[in-house]
Amino acid sequence: MKAVIPAAGLGTRFLPATKAQPKEMLPVFNKPTIQYVVEEAVASGIDDILIITGKGKRSIEDHFDRSFELEFFLKSCGKIDYLVEIEAISDMADIYYVRQKEQKGLGDAILCAQKHVDGDPFAVLLGDTITQHSTPCTKNLIDVYEKYNASAIAIEKVPKDKIERYGIIKGQKVEESVYRIEDMVEKPSLNEAPSDLAITGRYILQPEIFDYLEEVPPGVGGEIQLTDAMRLLDSIYGHVFPGRIYDIGTTLEWLKSSLDMALEDPEVGEEMREYLKQIIK
Ligand code: G1P
Repeated sequence: MKAVIPAAGLGTRFLPATKAQPKEMLPVFNKPTIQYVVEEAVASGIDDILIITGKGKRSIEDHFDRSFELEFFLKSCGKIDYLVEIEAISDMADIYYVRQKEQKGLGDAILCAQKHVDGDPFAVLLGDTITQHSTPCTKNLIDVYEKYNASAIAIEKVPKDKIERYGIIKGQKVEESVYRIEDMVEKPSLNEAPSDLAITGRYILQPEIFDYLEEVPPGVGGEIQLTDAMRLLDSIYGHVFPGRIYDIGTTLEWLKSSLDMALEDPEVGEEMREYLKQIIK
């Protein structure tokens, strides 16, 4: 299976940090966000990844490319640990790029992947969302997709005041943590929301999605919405992801993700914990 990582958005919720750098390259603890996303795809058994980029996103390509000067420098000064880490980034997977020409929404970005996925089911991992669990979120979804032979998306319960930020599903529970989805609505008001189960940025999609993406009119925000096209699929399941999800497109979530990872780090975790205790006294 191939993976598609949309990373073309302008990152307006994170200005001015994203004025001259992609939000997907903002570091979370010690790595750029999109590296976590690529690592999740690889850990789920995927080695062919298409990243949908746009203007101002070149540093993403540079990050996953070889850097001969840097490698030469690290080798010559004996920094072998760094060298191994840097080389591993460019060897992780076969990564391809295509540009979304205009900002016409997530659905339009996914349409840019049509040729590359070439009629097969494919995974989508939003480039600004990090998931953390012992089983990678995308691997869970591949299992659900194989069991039900249908598209599958990750969902999570969200608090009422966050509902308007997400696509929200209506579904019937068919087994522990799995829902057969009957309908979904993109960024509903609290009154219109059919549940508190939100779409979280990980998807396995049947290729028919492209027909529906071509068909749907612009939705919320005047953009082509992936959620509007997914509503038209014959069959789609939601899996409640048991781990932690960070949408780093907002400053607060980005800060929380870096803090959580620092606290878990064997080298700096303890010092970070002490520091936090001191400053919240
Ligand atoms: C997108 C999707 C939405 C989903 C969200 C998850 O929205 O359109 O359905 O719930 O990602 O982060 P965006 O965050 O791009 O506005």
